[in-house]
Parts: sequence; C-alpha cells; structure tokens
Amino acid sequence: MKFDTPAGPNPIDRMKVVGQPHDRVDGPLKVTGTAPYAYERHAVAPGALYGFILGAAIAKGRIAAIDTRRADAAPGVKAVVSYLNAGPLGKGGKNTAKLLAGPEVDHYHQAVAIVVADTFEQARAAARLIDVDYVRGSGAFDLAAAAPTAPLTGGSSKEGSAAPKLDRVGDFESAFAAAPVTLDATYTTPDEAHAMMEPFATIAAWDGDRLTVWTSNQMINWAHEDLAKTLGFAPDKLRVDSPFIGGGFGGKLFLRADAVMAALGAKAAGRPVKVAMTRPMMFNNATHRPATIQRIRLGAERSGKLTAIAHEATSGDLPGGSPETATSQTKLLYAAPNRLIGQRLAVLDLPEGNAMRAPGEASGLMALEIAMDEMAEKLGLDPVEFRIVNDTQVDPEKPGRQFSQRQLVRCLREGAERFGWRARDAQPGRRRDGDTLIGLGVATAFRNNINMKSGARVRLGGDGVVTVETDMTDIGTGSYTVIAQTAAEMMGVGLDRVVVRLGDSDFPTSSGSGGQWGGNSSTSGVYAACVKLREAVAQRLGLDPAACDFADGEVRSGGRGVALTSAARDGELVADDTMTYGTLGKQYQQSTFGAHFVEVGVDAYTGEIRVRRMLAVCAAGRILNPKTARSQVIGAMTMGVGGALMEELVVDTRFGFFVNHDLAGYEVPVHADIPHQEVVFLDEADDKVSPMKAKGVGELGLCGVGAAVANAAYNATGVRIRDYPLTLDKHLDRLPEVGAMRRA
Ligand code: MOS
Repeated sequence: MKFDTPAGPNPIDRMKVVGQPHDRVDGPLKVTGTAPYAYERHAVAPGALYGFILGAAIAKGRIAAIDTRRADAAPGVKAVVSYLNAGPLGKGGKNTAKLLAGPEVDHYHQAVAIVVADTFEQARAAARLIDVDYVRGSGAFDLAAAAPTAPLTGGSSKEGSAAPKLDRVGDFESAFAAAPVTLDATYTTPDEAHAMMEPFATIAAWDGDRLTVWTSNQMINWAHEDLAKTLGFAPDKLRVDSPFIGGGFGGKLFLRADAVMAALGAKAAGRPVKVAMTRPMMFNNATHRPATIQRIRLGAERSGKLTAIAHEATSGDLPGGSPETATSQTKLLYAAPNRLIGQRLAVLDLPEGNAMRAPGEASGLMALEIAMDEMAEKLGLDPVEFRIVNDTQVDPEKPGRQFSQRQLVRCLREGAERFGWRARDAQPGRRRDGDTLIGLGVATAFRNNINMKSGARVRLGGDGVVTVETDMTDIGTGSYTVIAQTAAEMMGVGLDRVVVRLGDSDFPTSSGSGGQWGGNSSTSGVYAACVKLREAVAQRLGLDPAACDFADGEVRSGGRGVALTSAARDGELVADDTMTYGTLGKQYQQSTFGAHFVEVGVDAYTGEIRVRRMLAVCAAGRILNPKTARSQVIGAMTMGVGGALMEELVVDTRFGFFVNHDLAGYEVPVHADIPHQEVVFLDEADDKVSPMKAKGVGELGLCGVGAAVANAAYNATGVRIRDYPLTLDKHLDRLPEVGAMRRA
C-alpha cells in the first residue's frame, strides 16, 4: 500500500484499542525474567562455547605481529580468531570503521581477536595471553585543536536528521550587523555514550554453510545485510533473530563486533559460541554521540523579532565518517529572514561517532535553546514569549511549504500554565528555599518525523487468533503493544486475540527501530497488511470489503453480523503487505514539537545542581498508547538530565581513547536524581503522515531537555554555563555570595 494522499477516515479513528493506555503485552515476560534476551537464550544453541573479545590497545597504527601460542595452549581454549586466520572479510555499508582490526588499527578497543573456550573465565584469561605487537601511529584526538581547520561538510545521521555543509537565506552578515540586539556565543557538548542496560550480545551457530545469530539489534534488516556482506555470503543463508532488546539508543542500529566475532569464533570452533561484550569494552569499541562546538549568532529587533540566525557546528569522526548534524533543527524552528547554517567535520581517530538518540537535534538544541534564553534576557522578554514571537507556520527557508501540523505555541502556553511559569523571577539568583537557589527553565523540543517503509504479515487462524509477524524490533519502546493494538483495532478483536512476533529476519522487512520512526512506521505496515486481510476475510465470506465493518469479533455488513472466526474455519487466512510513502513528506514538513519546563535547585554552598521537577508538553500526532508513549518521554527526559548534568566521555587526547569506560565513571541519572516528571500530549491526529495519523515521540522527549536544565540553573544562580555537562566546578567560584543570601 502506498500512502500518497492525506488519510481519510479509517478504522483506526475508532480508537477503541489504539490510543488506549494498555499495559505492555510483553510486560509479564519481562517481569518474570522469561523474555528471551540474546545472551540468555540457552535453549537455541545448547552447549554453546564462550567467546571473549580482545580490543586494540592503541588508537591508531598497525599490528606488526600476533602470537596466539600461549592462548591456544590455555585451559579450555577451542579457537582463537584474528585477522590472520579469519579469512577475507567485507565491510558493512553502515559501519565507518571495520569491526575486526588488522593489520591497521582504526580506533582504541577495535576488536583484534576472539578467544573461544569452554567457560567465560577461560576465554577471558586466555585473551590476556595473546601477544600483540603494535606499531603505534600518530592520530588526531582533540576536537578543539582540529576544529579551526575542519572542512565544511554536509551530512545525514542516516537516521532522520540531516544538514547541508552551508546554507544561506537572505544576507545574514548585513542583518546581524544592523540588528539592535545581538548575541554571539559558543557552546560545547561532549562525547556521549549510549550506555544502554543490555550489552552487545550474540549467540552464533552454524549449520553447514547456514548461520543463525541470536543477537540484540534495533535494525534486523541492516544487521542482516551487513553481516552477510561482512562474511561474504548469500543473505538467504543467514538468519538474524532479536525479539527482545534491552535498550539501544542508536548504539544497536548497526551491526557490531559481537555478532561478527561470535560468527567467526563459532566457525573456527565448529560449535555455537556466545559473546557478550564487557561493559568496559563497549564505550570504546562501539559508536558514540560525537562532541560538538557550536557557535550561534542571533540578531533581533527590539520587539523581539529575530532578523538573523546563524548556527555553525563542528564535530569530528573517523575518516569517511559523518558530522553530528547539530544545525538540523535550526533550519526549521524559528522565523527570521536572514539565515546561515554551517557544519564542519574534523577527522579524529577516536572511536566511531554515530547516531545516538535524536542525533543532530539533541545536541543542536542543547546549544540553540540556551542561546534563545540568553537572547530573551537581552531583549527583556520572557523566554516563553520570545519563542512564541518567533514561531513560524511555514518552513522558514521555503515559505511556500507548510508544516503538516505545528502546535509549538500551544505546547509552550499550556506548559507555562501547568508548570506555574509565572512564579519564575526574571532576575536570576533571587529565589531560594533554605540553602538552595531555585530556578526555572524552558526550552523548545523539536524533532523531525520520518516514515520508513515497513512490511508485515498477518494471519487469521481458525481459532480466531490474529498473528502478526514482522522483523520490527522492540527496544523497550512498546512495539509489541502498539502493533497488537493496531491489529486488534483493524480486525475488530480484543488485544487478547492478537499474538505479535517480532525481530526475526525470516519475517517481512519492517522499518526497524530508529530515528523515532518505529512506532508510526511499523504500525502503518501492520495497517496495510490488515487491510489486505480484511479483504481476504470479506471475500471468503462473500461480502463486499468496502461495506464491511470489523468490530467485536464480527464482520458486519448490511445489518448482518458474521463471526470473524468463521472466515478461517476452512483454513488460515494470510495476508502481507508493505506500507510505502509518496511525496507528502516533501510537500509538507513533518515534525514533532514540544516544550520542556524544568525546576532546579542549586546548593548555595556546593554548587550542586539537582532537578526538582520536570514537565514536557508534546505535540506528536496521534498517540498510539499514552502509557508507552509517556514511558518513552520520561525516559528521554531522564536521558536529557544525564546530558545536562553528568554524561561526558572524557577524551585522553594523548592516547586517543575514552577514559571513563564503565558505569562508575560514566554517570547516568538514577531514580534519586529524578524526583518528579509530568508528560502531557496534545490531542492531535496528523493525516499527512500515515493512516495511523501518528508521529514519532521517543526522541522528541530528549530534544531540548539539556537546555531547559541549563536555563533553569542560570535562573537559579545568574551564572551562565555554556559547556556541558553542567558540573559544579563550572560555576562554583561565581555563585551568589552565601553570606549575602543568608541576610536576605
Ligand atoms: Mo536512533 S539514534 O536509535 O533512534
């Protein structure tokens, strides 16, 4: 089915099942520990051996020699595989760096070898006995040092956000020079790690020349394609299965070393092999969100109308890599006749930079939305009003192009009302609660909506059970549930009559999970398949499909109702289809909007910043399930607090690696850091996007949070921090004098 005209009324509009806050259908499996995660799938490959990956000890250079004799002779060892005996390997299209080093080393902890042994401990011990002789080369590891000579580079995150190398509308320089009120400030965001709960993990088993990997991956189709390409064999000899995923955040968008090395180890050992990457290995072996340096210039009339916007961002990546598209949202967010976007990419020999939740916008809004706060203050305007004054209902670069739906102003107004924004003191550093300075901050949330083509197969069994099969993944987002809701709504049955099977490359190819496209795209594919199944049912019952209503387990037509099950009495009915998209996404700008409000308390003595409460108001089309959507948004808000206050991969610029490569050194928020969160969804249905009339929401919840926290911290202290994360050392020496505060 092709979606190329706005959706008319359809069965989803009934919202008997879709749009309801159903519990996760996979919840019981998860809370009873019976959801099969990759490393724990003991039954699929009994007697599997254990693999342990050795990572490169240099960031750049060459392997002169590998001596595995001591490892080969160690207890329990069944095989050791490095580039010397792996055979020729290709490289997947989605990876920048190769997943197995040799003889060149491209980054620190790039896989060098896998040891396969009877036990995990034996494999780990033997890996230490591999003697690798490295020739260390010199590399570039310092973004600030490389930035001044970094070339302008356009790019796409491969995942939604994209920006050209240079984009001009009007005459920025003249307008900026003529503006009565201006801001010119530079912001930095650090490298960040996905740090998802479940590590990269794979069990690999060969059956002759056929390979199955039970793994943890967001994009089955991409992993399938790239693993076949890497190993150099026909895709139909490979099966990738990933029904449950303990978080990914973009780290599992692509094929990773655990799958490649498990496959190589299993081949060498002639037995199934299971591999889980250790936590300290993950931070340097896998991808990360690249650091950025962002210069923003704003020029405005005294009224607050922006006349000039410039956003220039620099990031780094390995040779052949892509920029962090931090300027992406600035093309679309605020009106101003004169505009400049510039994006530079430095070559760095750090581990591969790539997509992490809301790549582009998450980093870009951390800077832009502080700049908007600073500018509002210069103008003497309330930050909410300043944003509203500069709203646009058309693409500011192409004014003939409308947004499919844009309710940013309503998000801001409703959020301000609900949050008690009026209590904010425009003069920073004045509100206090005992020894705590109190501040309120706001930021706009913006993230584009993307649709990906998505297929599904739906079966109606003689028992009346509707089974959905698609290679869509559930990365903790609720895919099982919203897909079940879609099939239930379309076929007119209860959720208890629907079975959803996901994550298997033998199923029809779906959108997968990324770029906040998964929920809307995968359910649209299920919608398409269900339309076909409804036709098959009607035909079998001798009814006109266009005149049939599917409800309460019946097919109703012309005042007559027939049990749905009767259609499958003489044999299962099967339908499959793929939803594809026409040009509506080009005709209309499809984006999601929100407003984040944050209250922080800053300890007047220590400078410690603690979040006290948060509110997000989101406008993201129809919400398929308010409960799972809310969970997505509060998770994203939590991640935003991490980005604002804690998360930073510390770069060793001498040796070229991330120093803090575990969860003790790389801090993410815990429950005690997040006292109160509220999420409100505006009641929307966007008919330009899909028959579901839904949009993405899982990344929107992150976009802008960091800046809202930073703006709240500024409001509390009067000290502006422009370098994330906002750690106390960055404002401690400039905090309001404690004695003065006491007397007040
Ligand atoms: Mo993506 S960065 O997994 O949404």
